[in-house]
Amino acid sequence: MKIEPKERAASLPSTEVERRIAWYRQRGHEVPSRRLLKSPEQIEGIRRSGVVNTGVLDLIASEIRPGMSTAEIDRLVYDYTVSHGAVPAPLNYEGFPRSVCTSINEVVCHGIPSEKDILREGDIVNVDVSTILDGYYSDASRMFLIGEVSDEKRRLVEVTRECLRIGAEAAKPYGFVGDIGAAIQHHAEKNGYSVVRDLCGHGVGLAFHEEPEVAHYGHRGTGMLLVPGMVFTIEPMINQGDWRVKIDARDGWTVRTRDGLPSAQWEHTFVMTEQGVKVLTH
Ligand code: MF3
Ligand code: CO
Repeated sequence: MKIEPKERAASLPSTEVERRIAWYRQRGHEVPSRRLLKSPEQIEGIRRSGVVNTGVLDLIASEIRPGMSTAEIDRLVYDYTVSHGAVPAPLNYEGFPRSVCTSINEVVCHGIPSEKDILREGDIVNVDVSTILDGYYSDASRMFLIGEVSDEKRRLVEVTRECLRIGAEAAKPYGFVGDIGAAIQHHAEKNGYSVVRDLCGHGVGLAFHEEPEVAHYGHRGTGMLLVPGMVFTIEPMINQGDWRVKIDARDGWTVRTRDGLPSAQWEHTFVMTEQGVKVLTH
């Protein structure tokens, strides 16, 4: 979304922000470095990257169907992204071989698209899209239900979406990163689910993964101070069963639940403002 003049007036002068940050630092809190506080111009760049990213996810939403391979999803992501002047961030990222992560059922995240992985009726699949436009990074993922899906899986997908919303609502200016994880963990466990611990959300914008780490479990009042101008993802991975995961030994990427039960994930990129977070990947 556009940064309107009204909002600019509502933000504090940078010297006041620095004074507040110093206050928390002196009390032993972890505080963001300068680079983590994005300028209005940088936020606008990330928002524009997010527009392409959302376009990719909307395209997948309209095309995804039973019988489709995840390699077809990968081609759609690549073609749409490149034709909009952008680059898929996952491609060649630390050796990742494709443009998008596709994670079916018990795959928690980082599933590699393949001609051999065919979407079947009853599957739940996460499509995790990350885009670089003019050097600015955005990152978001959605769950898709393939045909008729069991009530059990549908509820997991719904509660995970609620976890993302509740985590975002818990993120307040001059609150702490731990407030987000505490809210998500409470909601997931209240519903009989567990929160994946080995993977987290992250700062994003000038690079794919920046500080801070945004854990989806933990305690209020802990972790880095949240300051207006920070841009980060919240991307809870919620398991139907146990939270423990394992990485595929052959491909080194695919993360699966240890117990083989399904997992779900939703993700948005957010910017912190004086009024709370705003979604940059709508
Ligand atoms: N999109 C993932 C995230 O949310 C990162 C995937 S890294 C990749 O942070 F290389 F697997 F794409
Ligand atoms: Co992410």
